[in-house]
Amino acid sequence: MPTDRILDVSELWAGYGATPILQGVSMSVLRGEIVGVIGRNGVGKSTLMRCLIGLLETWRGTITFMERDVTQLQADARARAGFGYIPQGRDVFPQMSVEENLQVGELIGGPEGRKLPELVYEYFPRLRERRRQVAGTMSGGEQQQLAIGRALIGNPTLMILDEPSEGIQPSIVQHICDALKSFRAELGTTIVFVEQNLDTILEIAERCYIMEKGKITRSLAGEDVNADSVRAQLLL
Ligand SMILES: Nc1ncnc2c1ncn2[C@@H]1O[C@H](COP(=O)(O)OP(=O)(O)OP(=O)(O)O)[C@@H](O)[C@H]1O
Ligand SMILES: [Mg+2]
Repeated sequence: MPTDRILDVSELWAGYGATPILQGVSMSVLRGEIVGVIGRNGVGKSTLMRCLIGLLETWRGTITFMERDVTQLQADARARAGFGYIPQGRDVFPQMSVEENLQVGELIGGPEGRKLPELVYEYFPRLRERRRQVAGTMSGGEQQQLAIGRALIGNPTLMILDEPSEGIQPSIVQHICDALKSFRAELGTTIVFVEQNLDTILEIAERCYIMEKGKITRSLAGEDVNADSVRAQLLL
């Protein structure tokens, strides 16, 4: 039966060594939604994102993506299935130029991935200006745009971003928020993002999941995604 749920996470357990961090996370995302995962430092937000994209093994529970159980798939297979990931602190190749970094994105996108460098330059004109510049010499905001552009090249169905605004000046954060909304509007990209910056959350999140100590404990939707309630959840 067709469903508009693109991601379904059920009772997920995972951790490092013998220490559990995720302790029964459940959440779901509809096609085309922009959903925030918020919570205090160290509650397991990045761990959850790593688990979703397959960089961390799931101990228990299931991850269903477009009606397919992907729990046992490796990260590269999940990328081919439609996951895109921009890690916390971004991870561009600092010695390579902007262009070369985007070419790596094309390789990761694989033969099925559409080649979209021109589209990346349309969303992030700054990258076109700096296409021959070595990435490590660019500002944090420019590197974040590059990291997002590289993920976009693989034409992900679901883009996962871990704290995209961290350490970035407000004008570039605004530009990134606009670009994310355009991806959804123009390419149909579904977006899940971790964020602690109130303005970014209010700017793009349609719904928020609140994470505490390795679990999703509540959610906010519609009018409840407002400054007072989001601030209250971040301070829990
Ligand atoms: N590679 C690792 N090895 C061992 N423990 C880790 C590792 N990465 C994270 N942890 C621990 O797992 C817990 C959750 O960390 P995680 O990075 O997922 O939190 P977070 O919610 O993303 O925090 P932040 O807001 O600071 O980014 C923390 O106690 C952290 O110390
Ligand atoms: Mg984190």
